[in-house]
Amino acid sequence: MDWKNLSFGYTKTNYNTRCYYRNGKWGSVELSDSEYINMHMAATCLHYGQEIFEGMKAFRGKDGKIRLFRWEENAKRFRHSAHGIMMPEVPDELFKEAVFKSILANKEFIPSYGTQGSLYIRPLLIGTGAELGVKPSREYLFIVFVSPVGPYFKEGFKPVNMMICRDMDRAAPHGTGTYKTGGNYAAGMRAVEKAHKAGYANVIFLDAKEKKYIDECGPANFFAIRDNTYITPESPSILDSITNKSLISLADNMGLKTERRKVKVEELATFEEAGACGTAAVISPIHIVADPVMRKEYVIGNGEPGPVSTRLYNRLTAVQLGDEQDAFGWITIVE
Ligand code: PLP
Ligand code: COI
Repeated sequence: MDWKNLSFGYTKTNYNTRCYYRNGKWGSVELSDSEYINMHMAATCLHYGQEIFEGMKAFRGKDGKIRLFRWEENAKRFRHSAHGIMMPEVPDELFKEAVFKSILANKEFIPSYGTQGSLYIRPLLIGTGAELGVKPSREYLFIVFVSPVGPYFKEGFKPVNMMICRDMDRAAPHGTGTYKTGGNYAAGMRAVEKAHKAGYANVIFLDAKEKKYIDECGPANFFAIRDNTYITPESPSILDSITNKSLISLADNMGLKTERRKVKVEELATFEEAGACGTAAVISPIHIVADPVMRKEYVIGNGEPGPVSTRLYNRLTAVQLGDEQDAFGWITIVE
């Protein structure tokens, strides 16, 4: 494998794990070598969007060990998402077993140390029972597959330009934005396509009610740096990013103030640095934010990653790779 030139895409590996929920109970975790699932055409995931997923990463350290980043947080968010759209929660121990089995069965697909690559782990829960009326399925399938990946934004740790979207929303204030469910991503696709066509890396969604505040940044949370402060939006419609939480802890540890609050669009003019953060994106610094409807363009920094974002990026990736001591207890050694 050419680990150094991986992009964020699907690569076939040897195995995935599967576990069925039937008659009100979870079965056992089974390894499968098939990439396909056989499913009823009336399954609730196909018609009514009963689908949730997660994303986390495992890394190969210099010492050869496999490190998994904050899986307990993903397990917890998976339960939150399941609860939100009326699916049975996957117990943390079952989640752990499936994730660990999937990693260990595909060890040769973990990119080597020093290549910027990692093993992306994608747990998925779908309603598989046949229903015609709108109601929760009685049967579910929990799958965990993995794929070696490189950076989500092809630029890697280089600033990208973003476009504010004012005519489409990703999620409503009391909607499904805090759940990692496929429907949110479908809702955002047309906006992302519009941004791509206009030459931007992705979309900044605003709060759906007032269109005054920054909500989310494509498949990532938004953060900014100003006056030695790490600032990130508080909103009832965004995904509670584990990367963002980790950056808040690191920022605090580095002596920055941290603020989670509503962030007005116009504040973009005052930020020294800005970025998108997430498991896939890690940190993607943001240089220009265009707001075409308001005929505004915000330029942040000089087109190079800012000093605070760089320190945050270096520390986060050092913990993930095992180059820095795991002072926060974020790492589980898988093997
Ligand atoms: N927001 C959205 C919409 C996402 O899809 C993701 C990716 O998981 C994130 C934020 C970042 O969350 P995390 O850091 O937990 O990966
Ligand atoms: C992740 O960062 O894990 C995500 O889920 C982003 C994904 C939608 C590509």
